[in-house]
Amino acid sequence: MVKICCIGAGYVGGPTMAVIALKCPKIEVTVVDISSQRINAWNSEHLPIYEPGLNEVVKECRGRNLFFSTDVEKHVTEADVVFVSVNTPTKTHGLGAGKAADLTYWESAARMIADVSKSDKIVVEKSTVPVKTAEAIERILTHNKKGINFTILSNPEFLAEGTAIEDLFKPDRVLIGGRETPEGQKAINTLKDVYANWVPVEKILCTNLWSAELSKLAANAFLAQRISSVNAMSALCEATGADVSQVSHSIGTDSRVGPKFLNSSVGFGGSCFQKDILNLVYICECNGLPEVANYWKQVVKVNDYQKARFVNRVVSSMFNTISNKKIAILGFAFKKDTGDTRETPAIDVCKGLLGDRAKLSIYDPQVTEDQITKDLSMRKFDKDHPAHLQPPSPNSIKQVSVVWDAYEAVKDSHGVCILTEWDEFRKLDYKKVFDSMQKPAFVFDGRNIVDVKKLREIGFIVYSIGKPLDPWLKDMPAVA
Ligand code: NAD
Ligand code: UDX
Repeated sequence: MVKICCIGAGYVGGPTMAVIALKCPKIEVTVVDISSQRINAWNSEHLPIYEPGLNEVVKECRGRNLFFSTDVEKHVTEADVVFVSVNTPTKTHGLGAGKAADLTYWESAARMIADVSKSDKIVVEKSTVPVKTAEAIERILTHNKKGINFTILSNPEFLAEGTAIEDLFKPDRVLIGGRETPEGQKAINTLKDVYANWVPVEKILCTNLWSAELSKLAANAFLAQRISSVNAMSALCEATGADVSQVSHSIGTDSRVGPKFLNSSVGFGGSCFQKDILNLVYICECNGLPEVANYWKQVVKVNDYQKARFVNRVVSSMFNTISNKKIAILGFAFKKDTGDTRETPAIDVCKGLLGDRAKLSIYDPQVTEDQITKDLSMRKFDKDHPAHLQPPSPNSIKQVSVVWDAYEAVKDSHGVCILTEWDEFRKLDYKKVFDSMQKPAFVFDGRNIVDVKKLREIGFIVYSIGKPLDPWLKDMPAVA
């Protein structure tokens, strides 16, 4: 029987370990974190992250075989298997700034494991890391502790936020990479046995360490590339009168392409895609592969273009000035069913609109005012570096109000921007919305969730990404 400890009680560590504890009642799982605030929340009625189904899983196992603690050293010492699921954000300074992964948090966790270990351990990379990180970690562990065997595995996580529990219950695959040595293979089997409690064995893929590490970066790059591809097409659709939804559907019915992940949007967000592609770009550059680096860089560039294009549409549609006009922002999270705002396109869109002096009234069912205020006053990439966080400057946010109701947000506004595809925005009474707004009333749908025809009948001027343009917008060309 193994005892598991996971360092890092975040979006990955928390749900992943809760599901392991649920599915393996005989395994004791402890999640540790240096943030007492996070651990207190995991031990309370109000979990630190919003994720459908998570509450139920935690309720069932917490106190039985699932524990959350700040006593990092004690639980690492006692564990046979230590997962490391700490943040690996983009570096903000020094060599590789703006691209490379910052492994400060990972390295400090590895040094601590070496310091406190008194018995052999399997150390599992759960965080997304650059390929070859395992080699560096192995060196840190073995150079700092003689006489204890550490076996490193790479076990990247593929869950998506908003569907984390569903994804963990029924993963497309579980990937375990290890050294091709007897110790490496034994460690792979130990971890495989844990997952085999609920994942069919044919879905547990075992590879060498470097393939597992690189597969994670590659998987995110491929997924993000699909979105940038369809978003690039959306710009061409607007220019030609094609409809991006029809184009996506036509492409996706080819079984070699498949229908998923082809929704055009205001841009992809989330803590992973941009960070992992930039990291991939940096690794390619370091390996003397500038053409490969430039290929992947373009995926992020098109994403930035898409956000800028959206802002330009808003400004140009409203007679090229939004100064002091109230604009309602519906949705701030990077996708529905999460309260996570890391790299959400809403940050860049809101900053763009504020740059043109708009007054914003923001509503998101899961994001707090405090969070929105912080996000709008923070520099790019700082969010995952807790040490960089500064109190927001009041000047940058005086044009912003955060409200707790969509109808309140839209009241007296000139335009509505839909930036997250929350279900409730599909169901709004748009006649009521129209009646409460200034005229002409604009809707800018960054998620393609409204019924464009119906809204135009009500009287709105509607912009929906990649859809044939409203005659009004044709006369007001936007240049990104
Ligand atoms: P997160 O910021 O939510 O959680 C990381 C936690 O680690 C924080 O609570 C932090 O306090 C803690 N931590 C940092 N250093 C520590 C230390 N030395 N000791 C103890 N605790 C420490 O991050 P996340 O979203 O859970 O992501 C974790 C990793 O998983 C990243 O590498 C990310 O790229 C990867 N990943 C994330 C997702 C996702 O959907 N969020 C999906 C797959 C993979
Ligand atoms: C992603 C990967 O999907 C997951 O496998 C990995 O472990 C972590 O990174 P996540 O970022 O949580 O997961 O959400 P995802 O569903 O991938 O969406 C990412 C962004 O792309 C969101 O902003 C979403 O709105 C956007 N998106 C997604 C689109 O714009 N169009 C789509 O068709 C799909």
